Amino acid sequence: MNQTKLYFDNASTTFPKPEAVPTAMADFIRYQGSNINRGTYSTAYETEELVFETREQLCRLFHFPHSKNVLFTANVTTSLNLVLKGLLKPGDHILTSAMEHNAVMRPLVQLEKQAITFTRIPCNRLGELDTASMEALLTPRIKALVLTHASNVCGTLMPLKEVGTFCRKHGLYFIVDAAQTAGVFPIDMEDMKIDALCFTGHKGLLGPQGIGGLIIRDELAMELTPLISGGTGSISHLEEVPDFLPDRFEPGTLNLPGIVGLHAALAYLEETGMEQIRNRELALTNLFLKGIKELKNIRLIGKAGTENRAPVVSLQMLHMDNAEAAFRLEQEYGILTRVGLHCAPNAHKTLGTYPTGTIRFSFGHFNKEEEIHTALRALGALAASNRQTYIY
Ligand code: ALA
Repeated sequence: MNQTKLYFDNASTTFPKPEAVPTAMADFIRYQGSNINRGTYSTAYETEELVFETREQLCRLFHFPHSKNVLFTANVTTSLNLVLKGLLKPGDHILTSAMEHNAVMRPLVQLEKQAITFTRIPCNRLGELDTASMEALLTPRIKALVLTHASNVCGTLMPLKEVGTFCRKHGLYFIVDAAQTAGVFPIDMEDMKIDALCFTGHKGLLGPQGIGGLIIRDELAMELTPLISGGTGSISHLEEVPDFLPDRFEPGTLNLPGIVGLHAALAYLEETGMEQIRNRELALTNLFLKGIKELKNIRLIGKAGTENRAPVVSLQMLHMDNAEAAFRLEQEYGILTRVGLHCAPNAHKTLGTYPTGTIRFSFGHFNKEEEIHTALRALGALAASNRQTYIY
C-alpha cells in the first residue's frame, strides 16, 4: 500500500500485519510446503506440529482446555454457517440481537425457509443489548442464542458473561461472533459459558485473510451435521465422516499458509500483550472521539466514550453525503475509511442510520497519534466546507 495512505479500516481487516506473518508464510510455501495427516515423512510431521501449536495458542487465548476442539475454517462467516446450519432443524427457534452483521443474519434468514425462526433481542440507540427482555423471549423450541461480541458499526460491546449465564441457566447453546474482538478483548470461554466461539484470523488476531475458525464444545459439536464432508487422512478405510474432532469438520486440505501466518501473528500477540494492544487502540479511539466532539456538522453515532466499546467509530456528515466525504477523505488526504451499511443493515436500523449509513473509522495498534490528528483536521476541513450536496 502507498505509504502516504492513512489506514483506518481495521474493522474490515487489520493492516499492516506484523512482519513475521508474511515472512513465515513465504518461508512455508517456499521451503516446507508439506500437507498434514497424509504423508508419513518428516516435513509432514513438522507442519502437523505447527498446526497443533496454533490450536494450542488459540486455546490459551480463549481459555479452552482441549485443542482438538479448535476447528479451522476460511473465516468467521464460514464458522457461523457451520454452527447455525449444522445445528438448527425445522421447528427450532434461536435468539439473536438487533445489532448483528450479515454473517449471522443471512444464514438465519436463509434458515427461515426451513421453518427455523429467530427473534432479535432489542438494543437501544447506543447498540446496547436489552438483557432484561431476554427471559420473555424464551419459547419451547428455542435451541440457541447467537450474539456478536462487538458491533462492527459503532463498536458497542455486548455483555457476554451475563448472556452466557442466561443461556446456561435456560439450556441454550451460546454461539459468539468474535469478529471484532478476538485478539483485542479478553474472551474466556469457560467463564463466559460460550459453546461455540467463532473468530477470523485477519482482524484483531493480525493474521492473513482466508483463515478463521471456531472453538466448539463437544456436546454442541456432536449435535451438528457437518456441512462439508471429504477426505481427512484419518480412518481412510471408511467412507463415513469421522465422528471425532477436529477431523469431523475439517475435510480437505487446510489453508496451511494461512495457519502458519496465524501462528506467527498469535506469537506476536502473546509477545506484545493483548492488554497493551487494546489500551493503545482505545487511547487512539478516545483521542479521535474527543476531537470529533469539537467539530460542527458531524454527528457521532453510538457511544460517546470508550467504555465497553471496541475501537470502531461511526460518523455522519450533516451537510454532505457520507460517500462523497469518504471519497474526498481519500482523494484529498489519503485517508481510508469504510462508508455505507457495513454488511449490518439491521444494526444501522437500530442506531437510526439506515439507509444513509455512516463513515466508519476503525483503529489498529499500528496507527499513530499523528494520524488521528491528521484525520481530525481533514474531517474539520470537510465539515467546515460550504459544499451543500445533500441536506438531511
Ligand atoms: N465485517 C467487516 C467490516 O465490518 C468486513 O468491515
